[in-house]
Amino acid sequence: MKSGFLEKLIERLGRIGPEEVQNYLLRLAQEKGFLETIFNSIQEGIIVTDAKGRITYLNDAACEIFGIDGEKAVGRPLDERVRGLDWKALSQSESVLSRDMEIFYPANRFINFYVVPLMIERKTDGSQPNDHVAERVGHAMILRDITESRRSAEQTIESERFSALTLLAAGVAHEIGNPLNSLHIHLQLMERKVRKLSATEEKRELQESIDIARAEINRLDSIVTQFLRAIRPSKPQLQPEDVNKLLEETIRFFQAEIKDRDIVVETELREDLPPLQLDRDQMKQVFYNAIKNSFEAMKRRGILRIRSDRDDTHVKISFTDTGGGISAENLSRIYEPYFTTKRGGSGLGLLIVRRIVREHGGEIAIESTEGKGLTLTIRLPFLDERVRMLTEGERM
Ligand SMILES: Nc1ncnc2c1ncn2[C@@H]1O[C@H](COP(=O)(O)OP(=O)(O)OP(=O)(O)O)[C@@H](O)[C@H]1O
Ligand SMILES: [Mg+2]
Repeated sequence: MKSGFLEKLIERLGRIGPEEVQNYLLRLAQEKGFLETIFNSIQEGIIVTDAKGRITYLNDAACEIFGIDGEKAVGRPLDERVRGLDWKALSQSESVLSRDMEIFYPANRFINFYVVPLMIERKTDGSQPNDHVAERVGHAMILRDITESRRSAEQTIESERFSALTLLAAGVAHEIGNPLNSLHIHLQLMERKVRKLSATEEKRELQESIDIARAEINRLDSIVTQFLRAIRPSKPQLQPEDVNKLLEETIRFFQAEIKDRDIVVETELREDLPPLQLDRDQMKQVFYNAIKNSFEAMKRRGILRIRSDRDDTHVKISFTDTGGGISAENLSRIYEPYFTTKRGGSGLGLLIVRRIVREHGGEIAIESTEGKGLTLTIRLPFLDERVRMLTEGERM
């Protein structure tokens, strides 16, 4: 709206005739419509409140970010429509304020917002030295979606953390490997000496202790080796593989545990899947971790549904369990190294899963309804696409 238009209108209000009023109103309506179109076409969300914190205007982007109905929201307190927003504290400030927030509903997003106090200058009666006073009539809140930039920053931090972790693990494994070797050799020496003793109860007991010690050393050795295999960023050795076969092999590995936990594993494997270029050991490790997490979530009894499917470019594998799922807050932390809700968990499982899937050019998605269960979906490409044309519906 041209500046001064309103002032001129107000000044002339007493002198204008009825037809002119109609003209002015028409023009005002046009200007309002014009501004609304502009505000609704920008990506930033805009919310305007009055001095009491009630919404007086919000554009389409703001409605979408918070998942609220614009028409119903006008006239309502902002903190009633956007729960968790400490509007009282935010609106107290006299200056412009910028903060970040995480939204869980309707989608998990990170938002940066500004809160700007809206001031109107009023003329006073002239008794004051300065004949204008500023009055706060409300606030404007401007919201910007920073999810993408934040995710890529997180990925950088994560990969840095991951390298530090790998280095540490390699160091520890090296240090553990040497004493393990020495223990192994000394056990062998002891065993040789014991063998020379005459057969007594004492000899039998000594031999038993040696056997236990050797079994424990072997176990420790395999833990270290497995741990290193999991953590070491080895390049995948790609071979054409049948995903369904790898799934079946992994499930077979769990046979005893499935029986023990009284769990039903249902498979729905699509037969016409194309062979995928995979590192079979690494991909089995992915499936192993996904299944293990579902079993641990369900504890005893429950159903794990494993599906494989395809579209024109990808093979999709999903694991759906009835293990009670995960809260929205925890969901945002599952890829953090060491984040675990289990007593014996290392909190590395999903981090490794994601790394392997990404190294295969794939993506991983997790969806969960708290109280019900969780679905982990892996998408692996079988066509090496360099460019993908967006369909009509995907264009922004
Ligand atoms: N299927 C699932 N259902 C419910 N929560 C899950 C599921 N899968 C993972 N989680 C949650 O995500 C967290 C992280 O999982 P992740 O596999 O990375 O580590 P972990 O299972 O705790 O430990 P580790 O896999 O190293 O033994 C788990 O502690 C759990 O809270
Ligand atoms: Mg796990």
